[in-house]
Amino acid sequence: MTKLAVLAESAQEPRVALSPDAAKKYISLGCDVVVQAGAGERSHFSDQDFQDVGAKIAATADEALSGANIILKVRRPEADEIAKLPGDAIVAAMLDPFGDRSGLEQLAGAGVTSFSMEFMPRITRAQSMDVLSSQSNLAGYKAVIDAAAYFNQALPMMMTAAGTVPAAKVFVMGAGVAGLQAIATARRLGAIVTATDVRPAAKEQVESLGAKFIAVEDEEFKEAETAGGYAKEMSDEYKKKQAELVADHVKNQNAVITTALIPGRPAPELISKAMVESMPAGAVIVDLAAERGGNCAVTEPGKTVVHNGVSIMGPLNLAGDLAVNASSLYARNLLAFITTMIDNEKGELAIDWEDEIIQGTLVTRDGKIVHPALTKEGA
Ligand code: NAI
Repeated sequence: MTKLAVLAESAQEPRVALSPDAAKKYISLGCDVVVQAGAGERSHFSDQDFQDVGAKIAATADEALSGANIILKVRRPEADEIAKLPGDAIVAAMLDPFGDRSGLEQLAGAGVTSFSMEFMPRITRAQSMDVLSSQSNLAGYKAVIDAAAYFNQALPMMMTAAGTVPAAKVFVMGAGVAGLQAIATARRLGAIVTATDVRPAAKEQVESLGAKFIAVEDEEFKEAETAGGYAKEMSDEYKKKQAELVADHVKNQNAVITTALIPGRPAPELISKAMVESMPAGAVIVDLAAERGGNCAVTEPGKTVVHNGVSIMGPLNLAGDLAVNASSLYARNLLAFITTMIDNEKGELAIDWEDEIIQGTLVTRDGKIVHPALTKEGA
C-alpha cells in the first residue's frame, strides 16, 4: 500500500495540496491517505471533510510523515520538515527551483526524490498538471478585483442624469495566463483595456478578448518565443523601443496590471519611476511579478506603496487569497501527476523514469540535484 501524506503549510501559505475530492481519488487508486490536522482549514476543508472520504488525520507532521512514500505540499518543505522526511520518499510541491539553492541541496542531501511542479512541460498531456496555469489564472482575476477595490473611481462607463462617468483605462503588461485572465476580468467590469507582450502569439489572444494590443512589432518581436511557449530575454535595443512606446501609453492609464516573467530570471523592469510619476493621481499598479523582484521600479514585494499619488501593490500570493479555488485546482494538478506514478492494479509506486513529465519535473534523486536547468552542465 502506498502511503500518501499531506502536510500543513506555514502561516504565510493559506493553500493546501489536497482537497477532499482528490483524497477520494487517491484512495480509489489504492493509496492510504494521511493529512496533518488542520492542513485544509484555510481552504475551508475540515479534518472531518477528509475523514468523510476515508482519509486519516495525523495530529503532527511527524505522525503524518512516518512511513510515507509520497509527500505532497504547496511550498517547498522547510528545513525542519526535510529533516523528518523518510529517505526513500517522493516529494511533489512548488519547490521554487530558482529560489534559495540551499533548500534544494537539503532536499538532495535528505536522499528524497523531489519533483518541482513549476517545471511541468507544457505539452498537451500535461495540461491538467500545469500548476503555473491553474494558479496564475486565479491571480490574474484577483489582481483586477483588488485594483478595482482599491481604485477610487468606477471602471465601467455610466451614463446618468447627472452626467457621464468615463470608463477607466486598464493596461495589462504580459499576456500569459495571468494577463489574459486580467484582460477578461477588466473587460467584464467595463474598463477600456489595452495589453502588451513580447510574444507575437499574444497579439491574437489579446484581440480575441476585445482588448487592443500595444507593442513594437519588429523582426525580433516576430521570433521572440521559445519552443515551450515562454518569453525570451529581449535585446537592449528592443527593450528601449518598447519602453518608449509603453512610457507614452502608461501616462494615460488609470490602472496597470503587470505580469511579465521570464523563467529562471528576475522579472524584467517595465515601469520606471519616471513612468509612475507620469501617471494620473489616484492610478493603481498591481505588480504580479513582485515575488521575482517586480516589473515596476517602485514595487516593494508584499507591500502597497504610494508614490506621487499612484498606489503600487506588490502582492506575493494572490492565488492564495482565493485559497478555496487555488487549493482545489492545485490538488487536481497534483492528482493528475501522481496518478501517472501509481500502478493501477497493485496501488504501488511504479515510476516510468523515461517519461517526459517525470524527467521534466525531477529535481533531486539519489542525493543529487539532477534537473538540467539547475546543474552546471545544463545551465
Ligand atoms: P509567464 O508567467 O512566464 O510570463 C507572463 C507573460 O509575460 C508571458 O506572456 C510573457 O511572454 C510576458 N513577458 C515576458 N517578458 C515581457 C516583457 N519584457 N514585456 C512584455 N511581456 C513580457 O507566462 P505564462 O503565463 O506561463 O504563459 C506563457 C505561454 O505559455 C502563453 O502563451 C501560454 O498561453 C502558454 N501556455 C501553454 C500551456 C500548454 O501548452 N500546456 C499551458 C499554459 C500556458
